[in-house]
Amino acid sequence: MKTMLNVALPKGRLGEKVYAMFEKAGFPCPSIKENNRKLIFENEQVGVRYFWVKPSDVAIYVERGSADIGVAGKDILLEYRPDVYELTDLKMGKCSMAVASKADFNDDRSKTLVVATKFTNIAKAYYASQGRDIDIIHLNGSIEIAPILGLSDVIVDIVETGTTLKENNLVVVDKFLPISARLIANKANFKFKNELIEKIMRSLEKQTEEV
Ligand code: PRP
Repeated sequence: MKTMLNVALPKGRLGEKVYAMFEKAGFPCPSIKENNRKLIFENEQVGVRYFWVKPSDVAIYVERGSADIGVAGKDILLEYRPDVYELTDLKMGKCSMAVASKADFNDDRSKTLVVATKFTNIAKAYYASQGRDIDIIHLNGSIEIAPILGLSDVIVDIVETGTTLKENNLVVVDKFLPISARLIANKANFKFKNELIEKIMRSLEKQTEEV
């Protein structure tokens, strides 16, 4: 029986682009393009199985070995520090981690700064490096609302085009971390399926150089 390679893809536009790269790398799975709500697709002939998972969950599937490889944002890898190999920077899904506030916010550095974010660990590390005392509020989404409603002084969040900040009258205070998508692998399975994974890695690297 052929060894199956299990791949966790982030659901969404980035995941679709990534799938196209895997297809080019010699791992097509035509059924994935059918418009239905299935989450698992396999092509036994070439030995690949794809799962669509929430982007922030990819690293969990890979860390636990349910997926051999996957694609996760550097933001998730820094925030949750999963025990996986980070194989390569795919140079896609580029964005930044940034601090933002209302335009008229005046920072009084003698006061504790109230920070709302989904990325608690990244925010803590950033302010620790600045020697700044903060009070962290963990939110799950729509972070931009927090300073507007007075819940926080600033937010630490992902900025891609900047449209969300602009439309909510917030400004970037500091863009401090570039983010992009990374190919990750389960540590044990990387050894068992090394040849296969390295082959894909090389093809994806070649494709990223071509763009
Ligand atoms: C992210 C981020 C911002 C937005 C930034 O949200 O949290 O809200 O994208 O993109 P922009 O600079 O291009 O406007 P996401 O869509 O991941 O959803 P979320 O609300 O769950 O964080």
